[in-house]
Amino acid sequence: KMNSFITNLMSKMTLDEKIGQLNLLTGGEATTGSVVSTGVETKIKNGQVGGIFSLTTPARIRKAQEIAVNHTRLKIPIIFGQDVIHGYKTTFPIPLALSSTWDMEMIRKTARIAAIEATADGLNWTFSPMVDISRDPRWGRISEGSGEDTFLGSQIAKAMVKGYQGDDLSKYNTMMACVKHFALYGAAESGRDYNTTDMSLDRMYNEYLPPYKAALDAGAGSIMTSFNDINGVPATANKWLMTDLLRKEWGFKGFVVTDYTAVNELTDHGLGDLQKVSALSLNAGVDMDMVGEGFLTTLKKSVEQGKVKQQRIDEACRLVLEAKYKLGLFEDPFRYCDEERAKTEILKPEHLAFARQVAAESFVLLKNENHTLPLKKTGTIALIGPLANTGANMPGTWSVNSDLANTKSLLEGMKAAAGNEVKILHSLGSNLLSDAAYQERATMFGRTIPRDNRPEQEVIDEALNLAKQADVVVAALGESSEMSGEASSRTDLEIPEVQKRLLQALLKTGKPVVLVLFTGRPLTLKWEDEHVPAILNVWFGGTETANAIPDVLFGAVNPSGKLTATFPQNVGQIPLYYAHKNTGRPLAEGKWFSKFRSNYLDVSNEPLYPFGYGLSYTTFAYNNLKLSKNSFKPGESITVSIEVKNTGNTAGKEAVQLYIRDLEGSSTRPVKELKGFQKISLNAGESKTISFKISEEDLKFYNTALKFIAEPGDFNIYIGGNSRDVLTEKFTLVK
Ligand code: IFM
Repeated sequence: KMNSFITNLMSKMTLDEKIGQLNLLTGGEATTGSVVSTGVETKIKNGQVGGIFSLTTPARIRKAQEIAVNHTRLKIPIIFGQDVIHGYKTTFPIPLALSSTWDMEMIRKTARIAAIEATADGLNWTFSPMVDISRDPRWGRISEGSGEDTFLGSQIAKAMVKGYQGDDLSKYNTMMACVKHFALYGAAESGRDYNTTDMSLDRMYNEYLPPYKAALDAGAGSIMTSFNDINGVPATANKWLMTDLLRKEWGFKGFVVTDYTAVNELTDHGLGDLQKVSALSLNAGVDMDMVGEGFLTTLKKSVEQGKVKQQRIDEACRLVLEAKYKLGLFEDPFRYCDEERAKTEILKPEHLAFARQVAAESFVLLKNENHTLPLKKTGTIALIGPLANTGANMPGTWSVNSDLANTKSLLEGMKAAAGNEVKILHSLGSNLLSDAAYQERATMFGRTIPRDNRPEQEVIDEALNLAKQADVVVAALGESSEMSGEASSRTDLEIPEVQKRLLQALLKTGKPVVLVLFTGRPLTLKWEDEHVPAILNVWFGGTETANAIPDVLFGAVNPSGKLTATFPQNVGQIPLYYAHKNTGRPLAEGKWFSKFRSNYLDVSNEPLYPFGYGLSYTTFAYNNLKLSKNSFKPGESITVSIEVKNTGNTAGKEAVQLYIRDLEGSSTRPVKELKGFQKISLNAGESKTISFKISEEDLKFYNTALKFIAEPGDFNIYIGGNSRDVLTEKFTLVK
């Protein structure tokens, strides 16, 4: 039915109208480039607009849609997109934090709620999930993804697509997902945003590509190209990527959209003028051009000159129309423009309650010496730091629709949780950044953070006076939300110096100090780990952060988040990730340096906090790792079981992780690869036996001929609560 409908429609379309469908404009609410769309209304009337993004509310979207369906020749509806990345008005933790929950159902539900709210506000397309693997915390956009791991990233990609799209894309409360950024954007050289990626096929196929494929296999309807160069051909002009791999090898049937002005940027990449690069990009496999209007202004001439085949334009136009059809827009262009839903389905109490739960589960307890946490609900707490009294900083990067007006600060949240039982004192203590750093980039950093213009020491002294009156100090420090995310790469991953000076002074008071760390990326916290008794990493937790932090600090929620990106000891170790190759000269176990082995003179190879790491207020013991048999044949499987016991006094949740190592192969394999995980709840003293099934499928990898195979031989299996502290067994895959 869809095919004949679209064939019929396309038979009436002029070349101009077809090219118009390939044009995506911005409504201007959230823009991340210097070009902003102009004359949008006129262009809609002229049939020159296929989609609009960053325009919200049923009223505004209805107005634009009315022009499209009442004032154009063929009445083709517009698709409306937005960056709905981690929630909509109800904002959930940033994706890196969400991944730290290791709870796929929870993550799916965040995407579901995001879709319910966004579609209630008129939207039907989201530029999410962002599935770029990143092993470089200098890259600001590591905050927008699921961290460093291929397997976990793939599971999360699937969960999010299912959440957004549900099982029926044409329903009024589901929206089309757009997987991004295709491809390898997270491997930008030196962590500098938009930078070049140069990568072997082994690494691509085994480590970086699987999450994109997983999202597409889960049914994602669209995919966005990335800004970066890949082995000499920018993604947006890369025919191998978008046609050979995406269409021919993976069989993708949805449409490809560029990133913001990415076609135009091909000129700066050095591929030619707009006329040339637009043709190049379309011919490579791009179907829709975001904002830059290269397609709109050049393709007709390219067809006339024989540089572009009309058939390629037809293909792209058909894919865009199919997406609209699947969303039900031809049936009812106003399906997503329901003012009533906008009033009742956005920021619902149950959405907020869930956001609070998710935020608390995303926090990672990095250190907790002498049971500093949870805090007792008595006495006096000094809440100090530039991030304590700001609500607007909570949602984090890409939260353009977040309900900032109702997002409380940590100070408000702590006061509400403390009630009459605890006295909360507050002082700024320091600015976010030193004056010089702030003056230089005031518009980029900390727009939402209070500042004090007095001399630094005076501001610190005021905080110290309060600290001295308190039983415990809670220091709210770290990054502002603008310090991670797009175009926010950093080479220094320390907590900003001015805040560190405050922290040092607070520690000197001798009071117990809890560092509540706000960050969008792994930071280098070696000094903090050595000196601060308790560190709770809260990332950017979304709308309900201010309630979720006291939930964890006072022990109503036992933290269970586990890192999905390695925290290095220093920046020089980057890229540092657990699934590395062994090399021919690995360090002997237990050593941190040996001459002529693969290591550094000045720092061990170990991370500060490994992948999968996170503490709890209780402890878990792992015992009795057992295999159902020690070898199996292709077609068979083995069961691996482990007993996990809660050995403390509090109920808690634990993400149990299973890794394997292929000990011998036709190409080199990582020293560990995550292949399974289960998040379990255990009451104090309770034990559970967890089992995982392993089959040949789990042992497959892409060999040098890019065949996805499992090779017979020996494997190690590891299970534990993080990638470092594990129990080990061996098994064999026999021929
Ligand atoms: O979706 C985003 C992308 O991640 C970065 N550039 C802008 C796009 C649209 O806002």
